[in-house]
Amino acid sequence: MNHFEYRDGRLFAEGVAVAEIAAAVGTPFYCYSAATLTRHYQVFAGALASLGALVCYAVKANSNIAVIRTLARLGAGADVVSEGELRRALAAGVPAEKIVFSGVGKTRPEMAFALEAGIGQFNVESAPELEALAEIAAGLGRTAPVALRVNPDVDANTHHKIATGRKEDKFGIDLALAPALYARAAALPSLKPVGIAVHIGSQLTTLDPFRAAFARVAALVRSLRAQGLTVERLDLGGGLGIVYEGESPPNPADYAAMVAETVGGLDVKLVFEPGRVLVGNAGILVTSVIFVKDTATKRFVIVDAAMNDLIRPALYDAKHNVVPAADRRNAARRAAEVVGPVCETGDVLARGAALPDDIAAGALLAIESAGAYGAAMASTYNTRLPVAEVMVNGDQFFVIRPRPDYEALISLDRLPTWLED
Ligand code: LLP
Repeated sequence: MNHFEYRDGRLFAEGVAVAEIAAAVGTPFYCYSAATLTRHYQVFAGALASLGALVCYAVKANSNIAVIRTLARLGAGADVVSEGELRRALAAGVPAEKIVFSGVGKTRPEMAFALEAGIGQFNVESAPELEALAEIAAGLGRTAPVALRVNPDVDANTHHKIATGRKEDKFGIDLALAPALYARAAALPSLKPVGIAVHIGSQLTTLDPFRAAFARVAALVRSLRAQGLTVERLDLGGGLGIVYEGESPPNPADYAAMVAETVGGLDVKLVFEPGRVLVGNAGILVTSVIFVKDTATKRFVIVDAAMNDLIRPALYDAKHNVVPAADRRNAARRAAEVVGPVCETGDVLARGAALPDDIAAGALLAIESAGAYGAAMASTYNTRLPVAEVMVNGDQFFVIRPRPDYEALISLDRLPTWLED
């Protein structure tokens, strides 16, 4: 459920007409609904509440501090994968102890920064990372709370670029190697092993891969305990899919039931790292039609958003539904390829979008389900201005990331002395 809907033939984000925002901000822009973010968090966290879970929002999905703070105020912690994301989470007001630091390549300065900040958990993904963290923590006189992220060798049955739990993937520690590494962590005075973490991929639309992975992790927890090791926490990652176009992902209640079934009896504190399921359908990308170009084989609707603003279709062949901001429910439709101005054939935002036959330059379109991995993955390729971001809350809206001007963008470059005039 989300709060983007037509009223009297005009697309609204909560109580604000999308066209009104476009007139004030210009296009393209991402538009997020605070009520939708809130609802998604409450449904997800609510489903897991009886299991006593900590929900750490995966900041990579949408790292605007207004989005993070909206979720943090509801009780969310944060899952971060870089010092930059950690700084954003702290700036948004997430308490340090509710922050989990994931990722295969944390640098030593990043570890030091996170230790000084006092974060709640480092998800360690390799033996050398464990040793480096121990050394840095010892140097700072700190104790690092560590979860070992394991690789359960389970195929998440999602797009191959976002599956992370197969043995050939770079993520996690082989299950068979985890006990020795956990024992090593327990033996190092600057580390405190607190638990096990797992994340097998993103946009999962069935429960079976989760079930398989969680069952393997549960077995690992039992065997660690049998060795006399203490396991207090289990971080089950993120990955729950959303509806883009016709998928039917499990709902949070079914997901929670599967969690209870697989790891419910372990007496551990559960941690989750959802990203997409919280923010994906809480955002749209609003764009204007520049030209309509009919060719012998198809119609191109050329818009002012492009692959640099939303790379998911180009990178993962992702499908995003496109709708006109002016509802033309009864208008004749024609299939169109919605493309951006970037000079690449892959700059397609949607194929086969059923848009009104008489769609014309100046029309506003909304690309749906764009709240996750949209703005966060945007670039300035083709020296296009960074996309703006807007948050709506009831009948108010606020520009939560203004579009910088060309001078600000170009002045990031510097001419070397030998090229100065
Ligand atoms: N935890 C870890 C360790 C992760 O690597 C990820 C996502 C998450 C949590 C959150 O997963 P989610 O709940 O959002 O599925 N750019 C891609 C998705 C990449 C996901 C990377 N890791 C896309 O646009 O589909």
